[in-house]
Amino acid sequence: MFDMAGDDAIQFGLGEPDFQPPPLAIEAFVQAMRDGRNKYTTTAGHPELRAKIATLWHHLLPDIDESNVCITMSGTNGLLDIFLALVNPGDNVLIPEPYFPLYPPDVEICGGQPNLYPCRFENGFVPSVADLEERLDENTVAILYNFPSNPTGGNVNEEQRDELIAFAKENDLWVITDEVYDRIVYDTPHVSFMGAGYDKVIMVQSFSKTFAMTGWRIGYLLSPDDEAMAQLTKMQYYVTACSNDAMQHAVLQALEKAPDYPESMCAEFKARRDMICERLNAMPGVSCHVPTGAFYVFPKVEVPGMTSEEIAMALLEGGVLCSPGTAFGAAGEGHLRFAYTISREDISRGMDRVESVLSDLRGD
Ligand SMILES: Cc1ncc(COP(=O)(O)O)c(C=O)c1O
Repeated sequence: MFDMAGDDAIQFGLGEPDFQPPPLAIEAFVQAMRDGRNKYTTTAGHPELRAKIATLWHHLLPDIDESNVCITMSGTNGLLDIFLALVNPGDNVLIPEPYFPLYPPDVEICGGQPNLYPCRFENGFVPSVADLEERLDENTVAILYNFPSNPTGGNVNEEQRDELIAFAKENDLWVITDEVYDRIVYDTPHVSFMGAGYDKVIMVQSFSKTFAMTGWRIGYLLSPDDEAMAQLTKMQYYVTACSNDAMQHAVLQALEKAPDYPESMCAEFKARRDMICERLNAMPGVSCHVPTGAFYVFPKVEVPGMTSEEIAMALLEGGVLCSPGTAFGAAGEGHLRFAYTISREDISRGMDRVESVLSDLRGD
């Protein structure tokens, strides 16, 4: 669809901020290279950066230190490390559907089975424990939670988080918590799965979204469990040996000198969220939750007789690129995903086009 989009197509397809990293981080990156920081680092990464990251989580995990952090070359890299460490052939992992498209293939690469559980529109895209219990079997080793979610924008409150943690604890499952959108939240503070009364938890983190560094490829894994950290770091060694030396220095500078950078982007994302939700909810046949995190909306879009892929193709012909819900698993049928990572002017022009195409398709 990206290839088919015309030059003037309005791009709601991309899951990356239309911002640049903090300028001081770019300067620090260049300077670090000039200073000769172009070497391998230890596999887990620079101790100063890891120690800084550990302090960022002390409000939830007061006892962690640098040994609980492993720097990775992105969330993508971190996810693979986790599945390599946890999954043996024949194991299965509970994975949310609709899902970030790498989860099921990652589990399969490690010889396991993705065991999909539904996150339904009716429940704000938060799973029910009954649905999880129904899918659990003796080969289930872990459950992955992703809040705020890509693609749905779904998010949990503390009560829901506690129920989901209790389910994992009762069944002795590893919790993999993908919180790469933790600092892109609106209205209420982020609810983490860390420090919630259960320590068999591994968090996937990334600087891609929160510091607009998608092309840099840097993130980290964090767990209060020492043995998990040892195994994850071993997998990180096999996958890519270590992260980039100069970049780790630059990220440390960003965390120390531009600590509120993510929140500064959020103000703009929030204005866009309000705008796109209002426009979509005013269209006949469209209904959309107002997400409290990430930068996606995942509205239900009904055009009788058409699949979400057909609707997305018709929108493409009308000059709008968005993703069909089925790009995120079969449960995404009936939905489209719009990323509001473009300007408010473009959102407005894009929504005009969506309104007109849907109205033609529905014969309204
Ligand atoms: C939910 C989720 N997890 C992980 C990632 C991976 O991000 P990165 O590899 O850029 O760190 C993404 C990227 O879109 C995502 O949406």
